[in-house]
Amino acid sequence: HAPVDVDLSKLAPGQQTTVVWQGKPVFILRRTPEDIAKLQNAAQADTLRDPTSKEHQQPPYAENWHRSLTPEYGVYVGICTHLGCVPAYAPAAAGNVPAPAAEGAGKPISQETPPGGYACPCHGSKFDLAGRVFKGAPAPYNLPVPPYFMPTPTTLRLG
Ligand code: FES
Repeated sequence: HAPVDVDLSKLAPGQQTTVVWQGKPVFILRRTPEDIAKLQNAAQADTLRDPTSKEHQQPPYAENWHRSLTPEYGVYVGICTHLGCVPAYAPAAAGNVPAPAAEGAGKPISQETPPGGYACPCHGSKFDLAGRVFKGAPAPYNLPVPPYFMPTPTTLRLG
């Protein structure tokens, strides 16, 4: 598999882009200063199933409070760890938006997407801006962090 280069120069704070890497969607999120402050808030850890991602393998450079190389950019495989749907991104500024109810899906835990996070449209699993799953979700663990590095401050190379 060839590495995939992503140009970050057009990604505004609070925006997310999805790129395909090895046939999988990968979310690349540019966090706002507010997003970063929220992730640093230790109190939030009480609501997360595995705040330090102990239960899931990830690259050593993502073993930190922001689960990424730099706090500004989050990079996660965009496949729900429950049954593989693609979670929807809800920027913090957008507030609560109703998650679409999927036909024939299990009962969602709530119709509300947490502002500044991800919600899975299939069975309602919710993730924070570091891809960490909230307690009460059917998804068993956090979104994986793919291998990547940044050859320049505005280029991200996956793989
Ligand atoms: Fe995401 Fe079930 S596939 S909650």
